[in-house]
Amino acid sequence: MNRILIKALWLITLSVSAIMAVEGVEIFPVMDKKIYREGHVSITLRLEDRNISRLMIVTDKNEAYPVVLSKECDNVCSTTFKLHPGENTIRVRGYVGERLAYEEKNDLFFVSPSHKGAKIPPAHFQEQFFHTDENEKMCSKCHDMSINEEKGVAFIDAEDSNCYGCHKHIIDEKYAHAPALNWLCTGCHSTQGTRLAGESKFRTAKPIASICFSCHDKSKQIWDAKKYRHLPVDSGQCTRCHNPHAASNAMFNHESAVSLCLGCHGDKKFSSAIRGDSKCPGEERGSCVQCHNPHASDAKFFLDDPHKRGAGKAAVR
Ligand code: HEC
Ligand code: HEC
Ligand code: HEC
Ligand code: HEC
Ligand code: HEC
Ligand code: HEC
Ligand code: HEC
Repeated sequence: MNRILIKALWLITLSVSAIMAVEGVEIFPVMDKKIYREGHVSITLRLEDRNISRLMIVTDKNEAYPVVLSKECDNVCSTTFKLHPGENTIRVRGYVGERLAYEEKNDLFFVSPSHKGAKIPPAHFQEQFFHTDENEKMCSKCHDMSINEEKGVAFIDAEDSNCYGCHKHIIDEKYAHAPALNWLCTGCHSTQGTRLAGESKFRTAKPIASICFSCHDKSKQIWDAKKYRHLPVDSGQCTRCHNPHAASNAMFNHESAVSLCLGCHGDKKFSSAIRGDSKCPGEERGSCVQCHNPHASDAKFFLDDPHKRGAGKAAVR
């Protein structure tokens, strides 16, 4: 080996060990190999090495989120960052002065029901819940972890909700769903019933439709009376298409209607001339929902007059 190469190797070893040597930051809740269904994730860091003067979250798209180290936080610091659909690698970096003294890599998976490659997480990713008694204890010194919502009574000032401080980003989208916008979270995240060890305090019914229909009861009545019902609707998987909290698309759809439909009916991309097997023009003549009802219809293939759709407004409660 020539001397320059040896020197280069030595330098690499030295710099790696310099980064690894300082065990300075604890991350919780544990997020490595965790499955997420919302794009906004919060991370809380405890500084064990008080020499660290600057903390940074860096995503694989090279977006950097600084973590504010304030006295108030007493070396427990949080920040929120955004995921992209599918696998994400985020790095937590701690600096002593300008020197990178700590780095930890975490792999996360953001499930997006309509993105190819982001629908189903690989087997090494796991569901992990935060709201267990044990985890909450770590926060309750500074955060009120109790539920302070009254059934059906909207918060006039969102900040008054005990959930707001940590979850404020959940409605940071163009369209927000009324119950989430009013911080009535526990209508859908019930704390009732017995819990398995490690299970979240805030669970959701599976499938979720029964909860949706507790307010959208008119829709249920209308759809139940239809001759044909779309399978994902009939099996109660409303959140395959709708985000229950907020989204950048109208009706809180995860994607535009066309992308949603094509996420499961990929073959509809091609023109009928190419396929020759169906009279469906696919996306060639406008959005799928101009011709197809996404939920139910008396006409085969859910073809109806969209103007007659009117599933009815949700009961406001
Ligand atoms: C020593 C006190 C302290 C402890 C312990 C603490 N926090 Fe905080 N946390 C704060 C303070 C103070 C703020 C407010 C900063 C603000 O409002 O901008 C905050 C803000 C946050 C935020 C909002 C960050 C953002 O993006 O705006 C989240 C999320 C959070 N904490 C989560 C947690 C979690 C989870 C735990 C327990 C694992 C925890 N905190 C424990 C003091 C603490
Ligand atoms: C101290 C901060 C904090 C407070 C207060 C808080 N949460 Fe959370 N919550 C978290 C963190 C952290 C997660 C993990 C998900 C993440 O990384 O964003 C989480 C996850 C959840 C989940 C997903 C299931 C789970 O347990 O992981 C639900 C549902 C939820 N919170 C609802 C609520 C509701 C409802 C309230 C108010 C009654 C609330 N949270 C108050 C920090 C908080
Ligand atoms: C209309 C019903 C509904 C309301 C209201 C609602 N949620 Fe959810 N939430 C769900 C469902 C369903 C899921 C499971 C994810 C899915 O199926 O897409 C979920 C998942 C979550 C998660 C976990 C996301 C993840 O990354 O896995 C958090 C955190 C959360 N909700 C917080 C809240 C908070 C805070 C509020 C109040 C502002 C709230 N939710 C109000 C239905 C609701
Ligand atoms: C606590 C009552 C409540 C629950 C539970 C609820 N919703 Fe809603 N939802 C409303 C209200 C109120 C509106 C706004 C009034 C309206 O347009 O219907 C609304 C609006 C909507 C809209 C937009 C309708 C429009 O015409 O603009 C969609 C889509 C929707 N909800 C889907 C869902 C899904 C999916 C679920 C279950 C995950 C659900 N909702 C659960 C109360 C609720
Ligand atoms: C296959 C995707 C898909 C599924 C699954 C789905 N929806 Fe929808 N939903 C849509 C689309 C797309 C729209 C918007 C239709 C439009 O723009 O014409 C919509 C609109 C709505 C509306 C507004 C009024 C209306 O009827 O058009 C409500 C309420 C609603 N959905 C509730 C639900 C509930 C509750 C479920 C579960 C039982 C559900 N949706 C399942 C795609 C879906
Ligand atoms: C979550 C996956 C999923 C999404 C999203 C989805 N579909 Fe479907 N769709 C299905 C399944 C499953 C069936 C029933 C099996 C079949 O016939 O292919 C079905 C059936 C259909 C049928 C009837 C097919 C037949 O031969 O009877 C039509 C039409 C249809 N979907 C249109 C749409 C439209 C339009 C959208 C977008 C608003 C959409 N689908 C979104 C899964 C989905
Ligand atoms: C201009 C109206 C129109 C538009 C826009 C449209 N469709 Fe169709 N679709 C039809 C008609 C008409 C049929 C019945 C075809 C037949 O009888 O062979 C059909 C049939 C279907 C079927 C079931 C039969 C088959 O060919 O598999 C599916 C699934 C379907 N469409 C999905 C979609 C999707 C996804 C989109 C959007 C990308 C879409 N359609 C856009 C009119 C439309």
